[in-house]
Amino acid sequence: MAHTAVLIPGDGIGVETSAAMQEVVAASGAQIDWVIEKAGAACIDEFGTPLPDRTVEAIRQHKVAIKGPVTTPVGTGFRSVNVALRKTLDLYANLRPVISIPGAGGRYDNVDLVVVRENTEDLYAGIEFEEGSEDALKLIQDIDDMGKGTIRKDSGISIKPISVTATRNITEFAFNYAVKNGRSKVTAVHKANIMKHSDGLFLREAREVAKGYEGKIGFDDRIIDAFCMNMVMDPSQFDVIVFPNLYGDIASDLAAGLVGGLGIAPGANIGHECAVFEAVHGSAPDIAGKNLANPTAEILSAAMMLDHIDEHEAAERIRSAIRVVYAKGEVLTGDIRRAEGQAKAPASTTDFTAAVVAEMA
Ligand code: NAI
Repeated sequence: MAHTAVLIPGDGIGVETSAAMQEVVAASGAQIDWVIEKAGAACIDEFGTPLPDRTVEAIRQHKVAIKGPVTTPVGTGFRSVNVALRKTLDLYANLRPVISIPGAGGRYDNVDLVVVRENTEDLYAGIEFEEGSEDALKLIQDIDDMGKGTIRKDSGISIKPISVTATRNITEFAFNYAVKNGRSKVTAVHKANIMKHSDGLFLREAREVAKGYEGKIGFDDRIIDAFCMNMVMDPSQFDVIVFPNLYGDIASDLAAGLVGGLGIAPGANIGHECAVFEAVHGSAPDIAGKNLANPTAEILSAAMMLDHIDEHEAAERIRSAIRVVYAKGEVLTGDIRRAEGQAKAPASTTDFTAAVVAEMA
């Protein structure tokens, strides 16, 4: 059956990794009609915004999209397209499977876990008060008047909201994902011992949601600092892990680092209506346009997209071809060669892609 999906190639290496992804998906047997839309700085002249309405509307209409990375220029007032997309489409769950690919230069060959990160609140809510501003000074005074504590007057302040609604949404998502994907345990990560009304709420609600899955899916919790040590020492002990926004962001890069780095880390942003799949990495301006980028992360993001639209065979064909190419170790991009400390010459993006396609023939 043919499906329609939106493709936002992005910029920087996104142009190259998106082309590689399309080639591999075409070879997988899945029939995808791509609707190509734009996002990023290059859109501003044409549409007056880095995220044109027609791009958002196309995703709303077709429900499924894959996106290459988009550069966020620093200090221009240009809002991150990624944050805007997540907010506009209420993509409340960020899903990052972290699975060892033998030959990819990871510290461990036995990792198979899934990071589920809350995507809409916590310290990323964007509610901030600039140091010395009238609002910051008023807030500091109000907090003092309430007897809640003294904050130095020269402080900048970021607000950390964590709600019952968002916590329930994300933990339900994590448990449902575990059920659907044959996983056995969900771990909630927090710092509830220090932040009782934000992380404490997160843990309390996660425990409540867990009760609905008793006997089907196990549940435990970890404090974020202990979690980091546990991850580095033995990541195989984790299965599905659910985090508030900030810890999830940091932990997913940590987890990606344990299995071979950003070049192989896929992801998805999922809402009640739409899903946008994308690699964890950015637009890598340092190597853009040089045919050096590793397209594995975007290709594996496409495999997640295929699973999402029930094209499981095509998805597995892609993952299996990737595993074979890494196991053979003949055609691997520079990031992997460096991680592995290999002297062999690095392959180009296009050579790597051709090797993956050849394994699916
Ligand atoms: P980055 O992920 O683009 O690059 C970090 C390092 O990893 C660089 O040395 C890069 O060459 C390397 N790298 C990343 N992906 C690679 C790949 N597929 N193959 C080989 N090497 C790879 O992170 P950075 O430099 O912090 O961000 C660059 C730009 O990307 C920024 O404007 C940032 O805002 C944006 N960004 C966009 C994201 C998105 O659209 N989802 C996510 C993260 C960053």
